[in-house]
Amino acid sequence: MDKTTTLLLFFFLFTFLTTSFSKNLCNQDDKTTLLKIKKALNNPYHLASWDPRTDCCSWYCLECGDATVNHRVTALTIFSGQISGQIPPEVGDLSYLQTLVFRKLTNLTGQIPRTIAKLKYLRSLRLSWTNLTGPVPGFLSELKNLQNKLTGSIPESFGSFPAKVPDLYLSHNQLSGYIPKTLGNLDFSKIDFSRNKLGGDASMLFRANKTTWYIDLSRNMLQFDLSRVVIPKTLGILDLNHNGITGNIPVQWTEAPLQFFNVSYNRLCGHIPTGGTLQEFDTYSYFHNKCLCGAPLDSCK
Ligand SMILES: *[C@@H]1O[C@H](CO)[C@@H](O)[C@H](O)[C@H]1NC(C)=O
Ligand SMILES: *[C@@H]1O[C@H](CO)[C@@H](O)[C@H](O)[C@H]1NC(C)=O
Ligand SMILES: *[C@@H]1O[C@H](CO)[C@@H](O)[C@H](O)[C@H]1NC(C)=O
Ligand SMILES: *[C@@H]1O[C@H](CO)[C@@H](O)[C@H](O)[C@H]1NC(C)=O
Repeated sequence: MDKTTTLLLFFFLFTFLTTSFSKNLCNQDDKTTLLKIKKALNNPYHLASWDPRTDCCSWYCLECGDATVNHRVTALTIFSGQISGQIPPEVGDLSYLQTLVFRKLTNLTGQIPRTIAKLKYLRSLRLSWTNLTGPVPGFLSELKNLQNKLTGSIPESFGSFPAKVPDLYLSHNQLSGYIPKTLGNLDFSKIDFSRNKLGGDASMLFRANKTTWYIDLSRNMLQFDLSRVVIPKTLGILDLNHNGITGNIPVQWTEAPLQFFNVSYNRLCGHIPTGGTLQEFDTYSYFHNKCLCGAPLDSCK
């Protein structure tokens, strides 16, 4: 190779490398919002990769969608870091979020910000193992989207977004008060409120015409009568252990394809209905109630 060819080769290699490395997919609005979020969380080391000089789609703790959504930020997952403060309300400005996770952050305090209700593409909301307090906010019922509200102004490609209620994981927090009645209007696929301090009624979360698969309300202070609660015919996982639930287990519950079931440590009474999968669980799914009886527990007197 003569000198010119070598130089040319280097020139092309250089151009190729610089263009491919400086390719910036990040949406400017998303970048601005993310930097506000970082600041609101006091610039934690956990978010050190969030450097304004770089493409935000390369930052840790988040994902951008593909070209069909113009590489907008679709997932924000902040997990197990040294993070103190409250959930910044700016998360509601990441309009294309499908997944929002704040998990294992025991210094995360305060309430769930109202702006989360703006996230109309949200599929999964997981705020777990934090010190978030306050009631389960009623505005979460605004997350139900949008099946019939899609308008002509939304590009065709967005049809790939599921128009459905997000999975809701709010376990391991300090949430208190009652579950809002309005959440009963939503058809969740998965709902996990376990290990909080929720009281009162949860029967609104159950309804025959829902398609819910997973309900975990264990380790709260819920108090309601189970006797007339009808469960969805799709329910596979139900955990109600450690609450103050009264009444008896309805016969209708034998119609659900339950694979995991736990009603232990409540104040239930009466016959365990025979049939379905209810006898496939052992005594530990039923023990520590007031006067439940029948298989797999001792027979009723
Ligand atoms: C939580 O805050 C306390 C007090 O500021 C601090 O000592 C501790 O390291 C923090 N923990 C985490 C996981 O951020
Ligand atoms: C967070 O909750 C844990 C118990 O779950 C508690 O020990 C800790 O002190 C709490 N931290 C704050 C900052 O409230
Ligand atoms: C489900 O049943 C409730 C009453 O139990 C009703 O208000 C609601 O509209 C029904 N939903 C659907 C999707 O049929
Ligand atoms: C049900 O919950 C109780 C109380 O937490 C626990 O001891 C038991 O092992 C659980 N049963 C199953 C099948 O997980």
